[in-house]
Amino acid sequence: MESASKTKLCAVIGDPVEHSLSPVMHNAAFKALNLNYTYIALRVEKKKLREAVDWLRNIGIHGLSVTMPHKVDIIKYLDQIDRLAEDIGAVNTVLNKNGQLIGYNTDGIGALRAIKEKVPNLRGKKVVMLGAGGAARAIGFTLAGEDVELTILNRTGGKAVRLADFLKKMFRGMVSGSKLDKRTLQTALSNVDILINATEVGMSPRTNETLVTRRSIKPSLTVFDVVYAPLETRLLREAAAVGATTVNGAKMLVYQGAEAFKIWTRLDAPVEVMWNAVLNEIRRRGL
Ligand SMILES: NC(=O)c1ccc[n+]([C@@H]2O[C@H](COP(=O)([O-])OP(=O)(O)OC[C@H]3O[C@@H](n4cnc5c(N)ncnc54)[C@H](OP(=O)(O)O)[C@@H]3O)[C@@H](O)[C@H]2O)c1
Repeated sequence: MESASKTKLCAVIGDPVEHSLSPVMHNAAFKALNLNYTYIALRVEKKKLREAVDWLRNIGIHGLSVTMPHKVDIIKYLDQIDRLAEDIGAVNTVLNKNGQLIGYNTDGIGALRAIKEKVPNLRGKKVVMLGAGGAARAIGFTLAGEDVELTILNRTGGKAVRLADFLKKMFRGMVSGSKLDKRTLQTALSNVDILINATEVGMSPRTNETLVTRRSIKPSLTVFDVVYAPLETRLLREAAAVGATTVNGAKMLVYQGAEAFKIWTRLDAPVEVMWNAVLNEIRRRGL
């Protein structure tokens, strides 16, 4: 048994954070590779973020996962930001490298890996993304490197237009943004290969909500929902019922975690172990 004094400490900070699946997922991964790391959840109130980061730095925290509401605010307390996280404007992973806190964003990479499991070649695909918040921005910036045609629809139309305008500068394919309404949704869904729900619609406890119903879903469509609680949202249930391909948010969770694991340990993550830990925990909680 290795000395506890040499244990590297990682944590997720957020508020609320009690529901986080990250401790179970990362501790299972550390254990599987016999690494002397441990991972805890810390509730940090929005107004106490600066104090918390100072304290975490002083105690020599090795790595952080950052969740709501701190993903944007934490940037000003870090020493360096990776380019992708800077473009996205949000950080979900921090590495303490010799006392320097470096911010990364692995959400988009996780989403892309989850989608590519079902659609390995994205070239020329028509993608409709609902939402223009933090998750949507991360996915949008990661999709920018792929040759896809992206339509962003958001309840607050201005946010979709602004995100699309920003992405245009770096997008390899085509990108447009509009307000989400019946007409724009119907038009977008008439010719689409991949539908991404990057909103919180359908998340527990409002599990009966969906922005798209089965009448608008063709069997040839791939539907990805970023929501992971419940594991099968109403959107995914309806998509599966018509024979469409589905990708759940837990896959994104595991793959963004795998990317964070690699940043902290410089080792490839045991993805299967992490996936099983997340699935077991979701089932244990009855999500
Ligand atoms: N699977 C994963 O690993 C992972 C990672 C990150 C986030 N997530 C999940 O992604 C979801 C979004 O998180 P976020 O960080 O992007 O949140 P956020 O920044 O607050 O953005 C929320 C988005 O949802 C939209 N929205 C909310 N209620 C809506 C409604 N009733 N109808 C239509 N649109 C609605 C918002 O539209 P407006 O702009 O009009 O308000 C906005 O686009 C959450 O469920 C979160 O748990 C999953």
